[in-house]
Formats: sequence, C-alpha cells, structure tokens
Amino acid sequence: MKNIYLPVSGKIEEIIPQGRDVSLFRVRTQMPLDHAPGQFFMVSVWGAGEVPISVASLSGEDNTVELCIRRAGLVTGAIHSLKAGDPLWLRGPYGNGFPLDVSRGRDIVVVAGGIGMAPLRPLIKWFMKKPEDVGQVTLLYGARTPDEIVFREEMEDWKERGINVLLTVDRADEGWKGHVGLVTGLWQEVHSDLKRATAYICGPEVMIKAAMGELFLFGMPEERIITTLEAHMKCGVGKCGHCYAGPRYICTDGPVFSYREIKNYSLLLSR
Ligand SMILES: Cc1cc2nc3c(=O)[nH]c(=O)nc-3n(C[C@H](O)[C@H](O)[C@H](O)COP(=O)(O)OP(=O)(O)OC[C@H]3O[C@@H](n4cnc5c(N)ncnc54)[C@H](O)[C@@H]3O)c2cc1C
Ligand code: FES
Repeated sequence: MKNIYLPVSGKIEEIIPQGRDVSLFRVRTQMPLDHAPGQFFMVSVWGAGEVPISVASLSGEDNTVELCIRRAGLVTGAIHSLKAGDPLWLRGPYGNGFPLDVSRGRDIVVVAGGIGMAPLRPLIKWFMKKPEDVGQVTLLYGARTPDEIVFREEMEDWKERGINVLLTVDRADEGWKGHVGLVTGLWQEVHSDLKRATAYICGPEVMIKAAMGELFLFGMPEERIITTLEAHMKCGVGKCGHCYAGPRYICTDGPVFSYREIKNYSLLLSR
C-alpha cells in the first residue's frame, strides 16, 4: 500500500535571492511531479520538520519545481540554510489549485501582496502561455518596501509580454519612483470592466479581505473573486484536522476558495 506520508527526494539545483529573507529554490526531483498553479507541496528538511509551500512554477518536462520561500521560523530557516546540491524532500502536490474555467475569455486582475506572489506566478505564466484564452491581464502587486518586491526582474519581462504590471510599496526608499500605499489603492489604474473580469488574490489576510470586499462592491460576481487561504498544516491530506476552518479543511477543500464559498464563514478569514 502506498504510504501517503513518504516524501520524494529532491536536490536543490539553484537558489535565487528574491528580496529580503526570500529566495526561489529550484529543486530537481527524481520523477516528474505534475502540479497546477495554486497547489502546494509539504516540504521537509531532515531534523527540522515539514511546511506547506506553494508551487511557484509551471509543471514542466524537466523534473524541476520552483518554490519561493520566506524565512519565517524553524523549518523555513532550515531551508534557507541549505545550499545548491543539498537535498530537500517533497510530498504532494496537494490542494485544489486555481480554477481556470472562470477566467476563459475574460480580463484578469491578479492581486498580490508580499510572498503571496509565489502561487500567482505560475498562474501569470499560464496566462502568458495561453494568451488566446484570456483578455487583458493586470497584476496589482504590493510589498512593504522596494527591497521586498519579489520577481522584480521577471516582472519587466511580463510587462514586455503584455501584462499590465502595477506596483506599490507601503514605504518608499530614495530610489523608488512608483506608487506608495495599499495595493487596493490601484483600482483606478485597472482598465478592465471589473463586473466582467475575474480576480485571483493572494497575500496577507487583511489585504485579501479588503480586495475581496471592494471587488464585490465594484460588481464582480462572488464566484469570480478567487483567493487562497493559509493555515497551520501538519498532514496536508485531510487527516490531522490542523487546518480545519469552519466546515472545511484548507488542505483538501482549498487552499483556493471563491468569495462565494467563504463569505459566510468569517472564521476562514479570521484565523
Ligand atoms: C497552502 C500554503 C501555502 C504556502 N505557501 C508558501 C510559500 O509559497 N512560500 C512561503 O514562504 N510560505 C508559504 N506558506 C507559509 C509557510 O508554510 C509558513 O511560513 C511556514 O509553515 C512557517 O514554518 P516555520 O517552521 O518556518 O515557522 P514557525 O517556526 O512554525 O513559525 C514562525 C512564525 O510563522 C507563523 N506561521 C507558521 N505557519 C504559518 C502559516 N501557515 N500561516 C501563517 N503564519 C504561520 C507562526 O505562527 C510563527 O509566528 C504557505 C502556507 C500554506 C498553508
Ligand atoms: S493539514 Fe491535516 S487536515 Fe489539513
């Protein structure tokens, strides 16, 4: 019988710093791991523990998966102490991933805050790969400071490939010429009809709540306002109950939910 808790071994191929306390880990696995934007892996380091981390890359043919990880505590700190060539263990992918049927033929608004850009990066790559499937894609991304912006160089390439990239920071430094303020202060620069568009949101809970509420007030239907939720997870597969929230397990019913699914369960947005 297959042991669902047995991770597969991977080897860190490259570590690319992405701003303060965040790095992109490219991990080569023994076998191809088919995953979709919005899904996550349980990632472990021997002797330290296991944490849920979103896939930050598109499924490819080269047996690699990219994980964008912020140093938060014990396990993520242990991951950050590793070097290229070191082993990293993965279980998954788990979770439902972003629904793509709600985006077909529509303009897309991607709203990201901080490390919340990680699960949205493969979604943007997917839309760039399938431009005929969607209309204008606009990214609204907010970071606390300019040096906390992740994938900054990549975003230049996204702009060249037609994505409307709008950046803002909470606190500017001397070199910053862009917006200062909340990501939800950028709506006026979105040229899409929000009633007809689809939104994908990931970031700090306070940002998610504000963005969902405002998009709803702008007339975007509840089922097209999509977000991902976080929880402390242990098993990742619906067995331990750690991520139980309201009537749902975030690991198996989510981590992606529509506003329609969660609006009546304030618990899901107040963990
Ligand atoms: C589905 C999912 C996908 C995620 N994807 C990513 C990702 O792509 N990149 C990334 O950097 N992080 C991601 N996280 C968050 C990551 O799992 C936590 O930062 C990690 O578990 C912290 O573990 P630690 O041992 O390093 O920190 P700990 O020593 O356990 O804790 C350090 C601090 O972080 C807080 N914390 C721990 N876990 C969480 C959590 N799940 N949510 C909120 N606060 C937490 C603790 O309360 C404590 O204050 C994701 C979480 C989930 C549930
Ligand atoms: S993490 Fe164990 S039930 Fe979700």
